[in-house]
Amino acid sequence: MGKDINKSVFDDATKLKLDIFGECFEEWFPVFLHSPWYKKLYVFDFFAGSGKDLENNSGSPLVLLDKAKGTDRKYCINAKKEIKFLFNEGEKDKSEELKQNVAQYIEECKQENNCTDCIYQYRVENYNFQEIFSNISITNIFNNKEFGKFILLDQYGFSQIDEQIFKQLISYPKTDFIFFISSSFISRFREHPNTTKYIDTSKINFEQIRPNEIHRAIANYFRDLIPKGKEYYLHHFSIRKEEKKGNYYGLIFGSGHTLGMEKFLKVCWKHDAFSGEANYNIDNNFEKGTLFFHSENNVKKDTVSKEIKRLILSGEISDNISGLKFAMYNGCEPKLFTEVVQKLEKEKLIERYGDVNNQSSNIHRAKTYHIKRLNDGT
Ligand SMILES: C[S@@+](CC[C@H](N)C(=O)[O-])C[C@H]1O[C@@H](n2cnc3c(N)ncnc32)[C@H](O)[C@@H]1O
Repeated sequence: MGKDINKSVFDDATKLKLDIFGECFEEWFPVFLHSPWYKKLYVFDFFAGSGKDLENNSGSPLVLLDKAKGTDRKYCINAKKEIKFLFNEGEKDKSEELKQNVAQYIEECKQENNCTDCIYQYRVENYNFQEIFSNISITNIFNNKEFGKFILLDQYGFSQIDEQIFKQLISYPKTDFIFFISSSFISRFREHPNTTKYIDTSKINFEQIRPNEIHRAIANYFRDLIPKGKEYYLHHFSIRKEEKKGNYYGLIFGSGHTLGMEKFLKVCWKHDAFSGEANYNIDNNFEKGTLFFHSENNVKKDTVSKEIKRLILSGEISDNISGLKFAMYNGCEPKLFTEVVQKLEKEKLIERYGDVNNQSSNIHRAKTYHIKRLNDGT
């Protein structure tokens, strides 16, 4: 679909996409590297391209290798477990070019750092993506609980990650993934059989969605595919191209672990202090420099805070862990819950009891406390 991304210079939207891929991996990698729970780590880039653009800017495979090295080689020096990269590119010529680019990157890195060997192992393959899920040696890795897996899926368009592939991705243990999707295309060609074959557009209420919210709606479509009752976290980041303001793309990140989602949310809120989900003003916040701008006002955080308050005062959220997770399920960092609960406590509307604490990161390690309503706050 469209022109070859590696045969031109990456535009700003592509650079932002690559930055978010890189930052997301940079958050993921040290957690898995230092965790005693994983014997080996696998990093998959299944739509890897040729490795560079026309001006030699790094594409995703080289971004991943660079992040895995870390500033001043802080990660590769300390890597004590097997770490394997699989770069896949479906076009033969591009896959060959990628082989050379990765080999050159590794060679230069070894020379710069006086290393005889690189601690990281890699393979460059030329599979059609759809073959991957019937490749037993790869699916055995996906299903292995002792291996940590990071999967990057930088598809063109939207046709590669359909319902079936998505459901497989969320079923693999210890596997975080991030994929790109051209959300506006789905909207524009919503009735075309080449769209409905991959995405059941009848489940998306396009009439009620503002164009700038389309990627949020596509992420919700995938969210609805998660089986009810399964603890799974999905968040998204919408990207609009400056030159083509009507075109919205985006990233969707998935993790079965709260820490995975905490890390991704951190990256998103760093890029968008208003909503944590777009490179434009998705929630119509007042912009800096305009009359009604106030740094404390934030439509997204206000909406989620109000909902957290309502649920606490109605007794539906009665402990910190469910509250912290609620904030994350709604695209906010868990600290938002702690801010709300502390305010309600100050206003004497609730009391906390048990192992009371304000831990709002690494929440899988937070001690549980309970919340008692003193008054319904109405
Ligand atoms: C958006 S580009 C990836 C760019 C790359 N991540 C980068 O940063 O340079 C998508 C790539 O997927 C490849 N591709 C398209 N369909 C594929 C398929 N079915 N299987 C494997 N690769 C495919 C294309 O040739 C293209 O290089």
